[in-house]
Amino acid sequence: MIEYRSGICFTLDQMIELYNASTLSERRPAGDRQRMAKMLENANLIVTAWDGEELVGIARSLTDFAFCTYLSDLAVRVSYQRRGIGKELIRRTRELGGPDAKVILLSAPKAVEYYPHIGFTQHPSAWVL
Ligand SMILES: CC(C)(COP(=O)(O)OP(=O)(O)OC[C@H]1O[C@@H](n2cnc3c(N)ncnc32)[C@H](O)[C@@H]1OP(=O)(O)O)[C@@H](O)C(=O)NCCC(=O)NCCS
Repeated sequence: MIEYRSGICFTLDQMIELYNASTLSERRPAGDRQRMAKMLENANLIVTAWDGEELVGIARSLTDFAFCTYLSDLAVRVSYQRRGIGKELIRRTRELGGPDAKVILLSAPKAVEYYPHIGFTQHPSAWVL
């Protein structure tokens, strides 16, 4: 049974291990501990999934709890994928962000089919600087 928790209730090493075990580390600076530590400390909305004491999923966001929630990192351990954990992490992120905060994200190449599948719509005027 998967348990969900919010807040920073894990170590930097556990976070890095999960980014590796989900493949998200291919597109995140997982080898740069200082940067990863800042990513952990300064995110203000984190939801995690646990199988006992094993960290199996994470949604790491920055939110103002009023208008927008930027969901930066969504990762589920490969051996736990396709069991609804990613979907539940997003549901809880939305719930904690509040009803007026839109969830915004950039999809990784591997997940481009995932977000439309779970109800996201593609924004035609999203820009990155
Ligand atoms: C993308 C990711 C977070 C999805 O998490 P997950 O827990 O495996 O997904 P879920 O079980 O919640 O999937 C929900 C639904 O989407 C489908 N789905 C899962 N991954 C998918 C994918 N890559 N493409 C299309 N559909 C997908 C599931 O089959 C399921 O469908 P159903 O509801 O019709 O049965 C996970 O695969 C992952 O960590 N990938 C590697 C890291 C990554 O790319 N993260 C995204 C960064 S933007």
